[in-house]
Amino acid sequence: MDIVKLKKSALEEIKKATEAKALEIIRVKYLGRKDGEVNKILRSLKDLPLAKKKKIGPAANVLRKEIEMALEKKIKQFSVEQKSSRLDITMPGKRIAVGHLHPLTLMENKIKEIFLGLNFSSVEGPEVETEYYNFDALNIPANHPARDMWDTFWIKSKVQNQKSKMLMRTHTSPMQIRYMETHKPPFQIIVPGRVFRFEATDVSHEINFHQVEGLMVGKNVNLANFKYVIEQFFRQLFGPHIAIRMRPSYFPFVEPGLEIDIKLGDKWLEVMGAGMVHPNVLKAVGYDPKEIQGFAFGLGLERLAMIKYKIDDIRLFYSGDLRFINQF
Ligand code: DAH
Repeated sequence: MDIVKLKKSALEEIKKATEAKALEIIRVKYLGRKDGEVNKILRSLKDLPLAKKKKIGPAANVLRKEIEMALEKKIKQFSVEQKSSRLDITMPGKRIAVGHLHPLTLMENKIKEIFLGLNFSSVEGPEVETEYYNFDALNIPANHPARDMWDTFWIKSKVQNQKSKMLMRTHTSPMQIRYMETHKPPFQIIVPGRVFRFEATDVSHEINFHQVEGLMVGKNVNLANFKYVIEQFFRQLFGPHIAIRMRPSYFPFVEPGLEIDIKLGDKWLEVMGAGMVHPNVLKAVGYDPKEIQGFAFGLGLERLAMIKYKIDDIRLFYSGDLRFINQF
Protein backbone atom coordinates (compact mmCIF):
# COMPACT_ATOMS: atom_id res chain seq x y z
CA MET A 1 0.00 0.00 0.00
CA ASP A 2 1.35 3.44 -0.64
CA ILE A 3 2.17 5.74 2.19
CA VAL A 4 -0.33 8.48 1.40
CA LYS A 5 -3.26 6.05 1.34
CA LEU A 6 -2.03 4.34 4.50
CA LYS A 7 -1.85 7.63 6.35
CA LYS A 8 -5.33 8.61 5.26
CA SER A 9 -6.96 5.37 6.35
CA ALA A 10 -5.06 5.21 9.67
CA LEU A 11 -6.01 8.75 10.68
CA GLU A 12 -9.61 8.17 9.63
CA GLU A 13 -9.90 5.02 11.72
CA ILE A 14 -8.41 6.77 14.74
CA LYS A 15 -10.84 9.62 14.34
CA LYS A 16 -13.81 7.26 14.23
CA ALA A 17 -12.72 5.19 17.22
CA THR A 18 -15.08 5.44 20.18
CA GLU A 19 -13.15 3.53 22.83
CA ALA A 20 -9.60 2.72 23.89
CA LYS A 21 -9.96 -0.91 22.78
CA ALA A 22 -10.50 0.14 19.18
CA LEU A 23 -7.36 2.29 19.33
CA GLU A 24 -5.29 -0.72 20.40
CA ILE A 25 -6.55 -2.71 17.41
CA ILE A 26 -5.63 0.18 15.10
CA ARG A 27 -2.19 0.41 16.69
CA VAL A 28 -1.51 -3.30 16.06
CA LYS A 29 -2.85 -3.05 12.52
CA TYR A 30 -0.53 -0.20 11.52
CA LEU A 31 2.39 -0.25 13.94
CA GLY A 32 2.42 -3.93 15.03
CA ARG A 33 5.90 -5.43 15.01
CA LYS A 34 5.03 -8.49 12.93
CA ASP A 35 2.17 -7.64 10.63
CA GLY A 36 1.88 -3.89 11.04
CA GLU A 37 1.47 -2.04 7.76
CA VAL A 38 4.36 0.33 8.41
CA ASN A 39 6.74 -2.52 9.19
CA LYS A 40 5.66 -4.34 6.09
CA ILE A 41 6.76 -1.36 4.07
CA LEU A 42 10.09 -1.13 5.89
CA ARG A 43 10.68 -4.82 5.40
CA SER A 44 10.02 -4.56 1.69
CA LEU A 45 12.70 -1.88 1.30
CA LYS A 46 15.49 -4.43 0.81
CA ASP A 47 14.01 -5.48 -2.52
CA LEU A 48 13.82 -1.93 -3.85
CA PRO A 49 16.31 0.09 -5.86
CA LEU A 50 18.44 2.53 -3.87
CA ALA A 51 16.68 5.67 -5.06
CA LYS A 52 13.30 4.35 -3.92
CA LYS A 53 14.75 3.09 -0.62
CA LYS A 54 16.01 6.61 0.15
CA LYS A 55 12.58 8.07 -0.46
CA ILE A 56 10.27 5.53 1.08
CA GLY A 57 12.34 4.67 4.18
CA PRO A 58 12.20 8.14 5.83
CA ALA A 59 8.57 8.61 4.69
CA ALA A 60 7.55 5.39 6.46
CA ASN A 61 9.24 6.57 9.64
CA VAL A 62 7.43 9.91 9.47
CA LEU A 63 4.16 8.02 9.01
CA ARG A 64 4.87 5.91 12.12
CA LYS A 65 5.39 9.09 14.16
CA GLU A 66 2.19 10.64 12.84
CA ILE A 67 0.12 7.59 13.69
CA GLU A 68 1.66 7.36 17.17
CA MET A 69 0.85 11.00 17.83
CA ALA A 70 -2.73 10.69 16.61
CA LEU A 71 -3.24 7.63 18.83
CA GLU A 72 -1.83 9.38 21.87
CA LYS A 73 -3.99 12.43 21.35
CA LYS A 74 -7.13 10.33 21.07
CA ILE A 75 -6.27 8.34 24.22
CA LYS A 76 -5.89 11.57 26.18
CA GLN A 77 -9.25 12.76 24.94
CA PHE A 78 -10.90 9.55 26.12
CA SER A 79 -9.43 9.82 29.59
CA VAL A 80 -10.60 13.44 29.99
CA GLU A 81 -14.13 12.47 28.98
CA GLN A 82 -14.10 9.57 31.36
CA LYS A 83 -12.93 11.66 34.27
CA SER A 84 -15.66 14.24 33.85
CA SER A 85 -18.43 11.66 33.77
CA ARG A 86 -17.21 9.57 36.66
CA LEU A 87 -19.23 9.63 39.88
CA ASP A 88 -17.03 10.50 42.82
CA ILE A 89 -18.91 9.23 45.86
CA THR A 90 -16.31 10.70 48.21
CA MET A 91 -17.09 14.28 47.13
CA PRO A 92 -18.88 16.40 49.78
CA GLY A 93 -22.60 16.75 49.02
CA LYS A 94 -24.18 19.95 47.68
CA ARG A 95 -25.68 22.01 50.48
CA ILE A 96 -29.43 22.26 50.16
CA ALA A 97 -30.69 25.77 50.89
CA VAL A 98 -33.46 25.54 53.47
CA GLY A 99 -36.09 28.24 53.05
CA HIS A 100 -37.92 30.13 55.78
CA LEU A 101 -40.95 32.33 56.22
CA HIS A 102 -41.12 35.83 54.75
CA PRO A 103 -41.06 38.65 57.36
CA LEU A 104 -44.64 39.57 56.45
CA THR A 105 -45.76 35.99 57.09
CA LEU A 106 -43.88 36.00 60.38
CA MET A 107 -45.68 39.18 61.36
CA GLU A 108 -49.08 37.87 60.26
CA ASN A 109 -48.57 34.65 62.23
CA LYS A 110 -47.58 36.61 65.32
CA ILE A 111 -50.65 38.85 65.06
CA LYS A 112 -52.94 35.85 64.56
CA GLU A 113 -51.41 34.13 67.56
CA ILE A 114 -52.07 37.14 69.80
CA PHE A 115 -55.67 37.57 68.67
CA LEU A 116 -56.44 33.87 68.86
CA GLY A 117 -55.29 34.15 72.47
CA LEU A 118 -57.90 36.91 72.93
CA ASN A 119 -60.61 34.58 71.59
CA PHE A 120 -60.77 36.10 68.10
CA SER A 121 -61.17 33.93 64.99
CA SER A 122 -59.14 34.56 61.84
CA VAL A 123 -61.05 34.63 58.54
CA GLU A 124 -60.21 35.70 55.00
CA GLY A 125 -62.06 37.42 52.17
CA PRO A 126 -61.72 37.93 48.39
CA GLU A 127 -59.09 40.27 46.93
CA VAL A 128 -61.38 41.19 44.03
CA GLU A 129 -64.41 42.89 45.50
CA THR A 130 -67.60 44.51 44.34
CA GLU A 131 -68.06 48.23 44.63
CA TYR A 132 -70.88 47.52 47.06
CA TYR A 133 -68.77 45.65 49.63
CA ASN A 134 -65.69 47.84 49.26
CA PHE A 135 -67.58 51.15 49.46
CA ASP A 136 -71.39 51.44 49.57
CA ALA A 137 -72.11 49.01 52.42
CA LEU A 138 -69.31 50.68 54.41
CA ASN A 139 -71.19 53.97 54.31
CA ILE A 140 -69.12 55.37 51.44
CA PRO A 141 -71.71 56.12 48.72
CA ALA A 142 -70.69 57.00 45.15
CA ASN A 143 -69.58 60.64 44.82
CA HIS A 144 -68.91 60.85 48.55
CA PRO A 145 -65.63 62.75 48.98
CA ALA A 146 -64.41 60.04 51.35
CA ARG A 147 -63.88 57.79 48.33
CA ASP A 148 -60.84 59.91 47.57
CA MET A 149 -59.16 58.30 50.58
CA TRP A 150 -58.83 55.09 48.58
CA ASP A 151 -57.41 55.23 45.04
CA THR A 152 -58.62 52.16 43.31
CA PHE A 153 -57.90 49.68 40.52
CA TRP A 154 -61.21 49.10 38.75
CA ILE A 155 -61.68 45.91 36.80
CA LYS A 156 -63.12 46.12 33.30
CA SER A 157 -66.14 43.91 33.09
CA LYS A 158 -67.83 42.62 29.93
CA VAL A 159 -71.15 42.76 31.74
CA GLN A 160 -72.34 46.36 31.63
CA ASN A 161 -74.07 46.25 34.98
CA GLN A 162 -73.36 49.06 37.41
CA LYS A 163 -74.20 46.84 40.37
CA SER A 164 -71.51 44.32 39.53
CA LYS A 165 -68.66 46.82 39.16
CA MET A 166 -65.53 45.05 40.39
CA LEU A 167 -62.29 46.37 41.85
CA MET A 168 -59.17 45.24 43.67
CA ARG A 169 -60.16 45.76 47.29
CA THR A 170 -58.58 48.86 48.80
CA HIS A 171 -58.89 47.58 52.36
CA THR A 172 -59.94 44.49 54.32
CA SER A 173 -63.00 46.31 55.70
CA PRO A 174 -65.43 44.78 53.14
CA MET A 175 -65.00 41.50 54.96
CA GLN A 176 -66.76 43.13 57.93
CA ILE A 177 -69.89 43.25 55.78
CA ARG A 178 -69.50 39.76 54.33
CA TYR A 179 -69.00 38.27 57.78
CA MET A 180 -71.86 40.13 59.45
CA GLU A 181 -74.23 39.19 56.61
CA THR A 182 -73.64 35.51 57.28
CA HIS A 183 -73.14 35.37 61.06
CA LYS A 184 -75.11 36.17 64.18
CA PRO A 185 -73.46 38.23 66.94
CA PRO A 186 -71.75 37.99 69.31
CA PHE A 187 -68.44 37.29 67.55
CA GLN A 188 -64.96 38.67 67.24
CA ILE A 189 -62.79 38.20 64.16
CA ILE A 190 -59.62 39.38 62.52
CA VAL A 191 -59.19 39.44 58.73
CA PRO A 192 -55.62 39.40 57.46
CA GLY A 193 -55.26 39.99 53.74
CA ARG A 194 -53.76 41.71 50.75
CA VAL A 195 -55.09 45.07 49.60
CA PHE A 196 -54.42 47.33 46.60
CA ARG A 197 -54.05 51.04 45.97
CA PHE A 198 -53.53 52.95 42.77
CA GLU A 199 -50.62 55.12 43.77
CA ALA A 200 -47.02 56.04 43.16
CA THR A 201 -44.59 53.86 45.12
CA ASP A 202 -42.02 55.22 47.54
CA VAL A 203 -40.36 54.11 50.80
CA SER A 204 -43.72 53.93 52.57
CA HIS A 205 -46.23 53.33 49.71
CA GLU A 206 -46.84 50.29 47.57
CA ILE A 207 -49.58 49.42 45.10
CA ASN A 208 -50.25 46.33 47.17
CA PHE A 209 -49.78 45.78 50.86
CA HIS A 210 -51.44 43.89 53.71
CA GLN A 211 -53.92 44.79 56.39
CA VAL A 212 -55.43 43.09 59.35
CA GLU A 213 -59.03 44.06 59.97
CA GLY A 214 -60.64 43.52 63.36
CA LEU A 215 -64.30 43.35 64.28
CA MET A 216 -66.03 42.61 67.54
CA VAL A 217 -69.83 42.76 67.60
CA GLY A 218 -72.35 42.06 70.36
CA LYS A 219 -74.97 43.57 72.64
CA ASN A 220 -72.66 45.46 74.98
CA VAL A 221 -69.43 45.87 73.06
CA ASN A 222 -67.92 49.31 73.68
CA LEU A 223 -64.77 51.41 73.26
CA ALA A 224 -63.44 50.36 76.66
CA ASN A 225 -63.41 46.78 75.36
CA PHE A 226 -61.53 48.00 72.31
CA LYS A 227 -58.98 49.83 74.45
CA TYR A 228 -58.32 46.69 76.48
CA VAL A 229 -57.97 44.44 73.45
CA ILE A 230 -55.68 46.80 71.60
CA GLU A 231 -53.46 47.42 74.61
CA GLN A 232 -53.10 43.68 75.07
CA PHE A 233 -52.24 43.37 71.43
CA PHE A 234 -49.50 46.01 71.36
CA ARG A 235 -48.00 44.88 74.65
CA GLN A 236 -47.70 41.34 73.39
CA LEU A 237 -46.27 42.53 70.09
CA PHE A 238 -43.81 45.21 71.23
CA GLY A 239 -43.36 44.55 74.95
CA PRO A 240 -45.22 45.56 78.15
CA HIS A 241 -43.88 49.14 78.22
CA ILE A 242 -45.16 50.28 74.83
CA ALA A 243 -47.04 53.60 75.07
CA ILE A 244 -50.33 53.84 73.18
CA ARG A 245 -52.37 56.92 72.25
CA MET A 246 -55.88 57.25 70.83
CA ARG A 247 -56.84 60.29 68.75
CA PRO A 248 -60.26 61.18 67.31
CA SER A 249 -60.32 60.73 63.54
CA TYR A 250 -62.69 60.14 60.66
CA PHE A 251 -63.57 56.99 58.74
CA PRO A 252 -67.02 56.75 57.11
CA PHE A 253 -67.74 53.28 58.54
CA VAL A 254 -67.19 54.20 62.21
CA GLU A 255 -68.64 56.72 64.63
CA PRO A 256 -66.79 57.84 66.63
CA GLY A 257 -63.60 57.17 64.68
CA LEU A 258 -60.10 56.89 66.12
CA GLU A 259 -56.50 56.66 65.14
CA ILE A 260 -54.09 54.71 67.31
CA ASP A 261 -50.46 55.77 67.71
CA ILE A 262 -47.63 54.00 69.45
CA LYS A 263 -44.61 55.78 70.87
CA LEU A 264 -41.21 54.94 69.46
CA GLY A 265 -38.32 56.86 70.98
CA ASP A 266 -39.78 60.36 71.36
CA LYS A 267 -42.07 60.08 68.33
CA TRP A 268 -45.70 58.99 68.01
CA LEU A 269 -46.36 56.78 65.03
CA GLU A 270 -49.79 56.16 63.57
CA VAL A 271 -50.41 52.43 63.22
CA MET A 272 -54.15 51.83 63.14
CA GLY A 273 -57.60 53.20 62.34
CA ALA A 274 -60.56 52.19 64.47
CA GLY A 275 -63.91 53.14 65.91
CA MET A 276 -67.40 52.03 66.82
CA VAL A 277 -69.15 50.44 63.84
CA HIS A 278 -71.38 53.09 62.20
CA PRO A 279 -75.16 52.51 62.56
CA ASN A 280 -75.49 52.70 58.75
CA VAL A 281 -73.07 49.78 58.42
CA LEU A 282 -75.04 47.73 60.94
CA LYS A 283 -78.25 48.56 59.06
CA ALA A 284 -76.67 47.52 55.75
CA VAL A 285 -76.28 43.97 57.08
CA GLY A 286 -79.74 43.88 58.68
CA TYR A 287 -78.71 44.40 62.30
CA ASP A 288 -80.66 46.70 64.61
CA PRO A 289 -78.20 49.42 65.75
CA LYS A 290 -80.27 49.91 68.92
CA GLU A 291 -79.63 46.31 69.93
CA ILE A 292 -76.24 45.51 68.51
CA GLN A 293 -73.01 47.44 68.46
CA GLY A 294 -69.37 46.76 67.88
CA PHE A 295 -65.90 48.09 67.34
CA ALA A 296 -63.70 47.71 64.27
CA PHE A 297 -60.08 48.41 63.51
CA GLY A 298 -57.66 48.14 60.62
CA LEU A 299 -53.89 48.02 60.73
CA GLY A 300 -51.14 47.85 58.12
CA LEU A 301 -49.04 44.74 58.36
CA GLU A 302 -46.02 46.22 56.57
CA ARG A 303 -45.99 49.22 58.89
CA LEU A 304 -45.82 46.98 61.97
CA ALA A 305 -43.22 44.68 60.40
CA MET A 306 -41.10 47.71 59.45
CA ILE A 307 -41.19 48.91 63.05
CA LYS A 308 -40.55 45.52 64.62
CA TYR A 309 -37.76 44.47 62.24
CA LYS A 310 -36.37 48.00 61.63
CA ILE A 311 -36.97 47.98 57.86
CA ASP A 312 -36.75 51.41 56.22
CA ASP A 313 -38.27 50.78 52.77
CA ILE A 314 -41.60 49.03 52.17
CA ARG A 315 -40.53 48.04 48.65
CA LEU A 316 -37.95 45.63 50.08
CA PHE A 317 -40.75 43.22 51.07
CA TYR A 318 -41.56 42.54 47.41
CA SER A 319 -38.08 42.88 45.93
CA GLY A 320 -37.34 39.15 46.02
CA ASP A 321 -33.80 40.13 47.08
CA LEU A 322 -32.24 37.26 49.04
CA ARG A 323 -29.87 39.64 50.83
CA PHE A 324 -32.99 41.13 52.43
CA ILE A 325 -35.07 37.98 52.89
CA ASN A 326 -32.26 35.96 54.46
CA GLN A 327 -32.00 38.38 57.39
CA PHE A 328 -35.18 37.03 58.95
N1 DAH B 1 -60.07 50.54 56.15
C1 DAH B 1 -59.27 51.63 56.64
C2 DAH B 1 -58.15 51.92 55.65
O1 DAH B 1 -57.89 51.16 54.82
C3 DAH B 1 -58.67 51.28 57.97
C4 DAH B 1 -59.71 51.22 59.06
C5 DAH B 1 -60.04 52.36 59.76
C6 DAH B 1 -60.37 50.05 59.31
C7 DAH B 1 -61.00 52.34 60.75
C8 DAH B 1 -61.35 49.99 60.32
C9 DAH B 1 -61.64 51.17 61.03
O2 DAH B 1 -62.01 48.88 60.60
O3 DAH B 1 -62.58 51.09 62.00
O4 DAH B 1 -57.58 52.96 55.72
